[in-house]
Amino acid sequence: MSEEKAMTIRDLVARKGGEKIVMVSAYDAMFARIADDAGVDAILVGDSLANIVAGQDSTLRVTLDQMIYHGRAARRGCRRALLVVDMPFMTYQVSSEDAMRNAGRIMQETGAQAVKLEGGSAARAEAVAKVVEMGVPVMGHLGFTPQSVHALGGARVQGKNDAAASALLDDARRLEAAGAFAIVLELVPAALAARVTEAVKVPTIGIGAGARCDGQVLVLPDLLGLNGDFAPRFLKRYAELGTAARDAVRQFVAETRDATFPSAQHSY
Ligand code: KIV
Repeated sequence: MSEEKAMTIRDLVARKGGEKIVMVSAYDAMFARIADDAGVDAILVGDSLANIVAGQDSTLRVTLDQMIYHGRAARRGCRRALLVVDMPFMTYQVSSEDAMRNAGRIMQETGAQAVKLEGGSAARAEAVAKVVEMGVPVMGHLGFTPQSVHALGGARVQGKNDAAASALLDDARRLEAAGAFAIVLELVPAALAARVTEAVKVPTIGIGAGARCDGQVLVLPDLLGLNGDFAPRFLKRYAELGTAARDAVRQFVAETRDATFPSAQHSY
C-alpha cells in the first residue's frame, strides 16, 4: 500500500482559490493521528490548549515549553498533515529577536513545519519578515486574536465598522508582504473575510469567518463535542463524544461496583 504524500507549505499555498483547506487544532499524538487519518490538511497545536487541556480562561498563561511539549506529541501523530505550532503570548510581542529565537526553538524541538502568531501591525509584520527570512514559514492570525482578549473586551466579532474593516484589510496585506504563507481569520463578518480572501494571494483559513475563506479551522475537541457545552454560533458539533465518554465511564463505575466487571473474559 503506497503512503500518501505528506503536505508541504507549497501544497497548502497552491490550494488558494481551489480545493478548501481543512485544519484542526489538536494537542497530542492520539488526536493528531485521528485527524490525520481523517484527511485534514494541517494540524495546529493551538495555544487554545490553555482552555481545552489546562482549563484556563484565556490563552495568556501558556508557556513556550508547554507548547513545545504538545507540539512534539502532536508531531508523532502526523503522517500526511502539515504541523503548525502557535507561538504563545510573550514569545514574539517584545522584539523581532525574541520572535526569531522562539520560532527557532519551536521548529527545532517539535519538528513542526511552521509557526503561527497573532496580529498584523507594522511591528508584527517586521517580526514575521525576520522569522520568514530565517527559513521558518509563518501563518498569520487576524480578527479576534485571543492573546489580546482583554484589550478587545472578550471574544467578539471584529471588523464590524468601515474603519475596523479597512484596518483588518491593511493588516492582511502587511502580513502577506512580510511573507506569511497563510492567514487565519477568526470571528470576522463573512463579507469582510471574503474581501480579505480576494485581496491577498495567500490562503485564508476561517473560524467564524464565513464560507468564502480558502479553508476552515475548528478546534478538534469542540467539533467532537468534547468541550462541555461550548457552542458558539460558528461551531458545528459533528459528534457528541463527551456524552458518549460520560456514559461509558458511568457503565464502568456501575459494573465495577456490582462486580460484573471484570468477567472471566477480561481475567487471566
Ligand atoms: O489556538 C487555536 O486553536 C487557534 C485556532 C482556533 C485558530 O488559534
